[in-house]
Amino acid sequence: MSGADRWVIHRYDSVTSTMEAAAQLARFGAPDRTAVVSDEQTHGRGRSGRMWQAPPGSAVFCTIIVRPHITPHRLSTLPLITGVAVAEAIEQISGHPARLKWPNDVWIGTDPERCKVAGILVTSSLRDGVVERALVGIGINVSGASDDLPPRATSLRVATGVEISAGALFTSLLARFDRAYQEFLDAEGTPFLNGWRSRAALLGENVSIEDAGRIWSGTFTGIDDDGALLLRDSESHVRRIIAGDLTRGPRIVP
Ligand code: BTN
Repeated sequence: MSGADRWVIHRYDSVTSTMEAAAQLARFGAPDRTAVVSDEQTHGRGRSGRMWQAPPGSAVFCTIIVRPHITPHRLSTLPLITGVAVAEAIEQISGHPARLKWPNDVWIGTDPERCKVAGILVTSSLRDGVVERALVGIGINVSGASDDLPPRATSLRVATGVEISAGALFTSLLARFDRAYQEFLDAEGTPFLNGWRSRAALLGENVSIEDAGRIWSGTFTGIDDDGALLLRDSESHVRRIIAGDLTRGPRIVP
């Protein structure tokens, strides 16, 4: 089996969140490479406990269930390869370049205040110290108007003017993810991250990363092979950061 043949796809008109629907299916044994996609989410979830909101029918809302046989720390690259798959699908369908903001936002367009077009949320559960399953949630704003989207968010229609079918974008995304995930498995969770590095937003810029109330500032010099962000401080020490919210420029500690 290859490509689309090995996917099980569950389609819904409306769910609270495709993360919830996928978690339920996973509890009942849904296999590796199951995708859940819905036209609407009533309680979409974002990273760090935030909401993810987009008008019904205006976005790709999907969650992919995977069951990779790898040790848990190797999951760190899964959000990054997903970001590359999302960027590739957007580029193929829209003809416009996408950029990736560490760890896993997808940016498009030229408006620096409104460029987040897609977000990725990965959760995982372990059993006996190994990965039992990971849920890869992907939201891509396709046709929403600026007024209907959260601050800093855009849609493919707003940013590019191109009319895109959410269905066609989902099909392309699944094909790209399938290929990236196979490479991820073949490399036992240490895939090449060249596709991520070549699209990195804010590379070489002064940035800040906040995680659990702590803030680090410095120059974003790249990512490590496990996806950690490399931040060079004013004394040229390079720190590895494995999680947090990245923003442009210095941040004032409150
Ligand atoms: C982020 O905060 O940037 C991550 C957003 C992830 C949103 C997607 S939409 C489909 C899936 N279902 C959810 O409830 N969240 C993810």
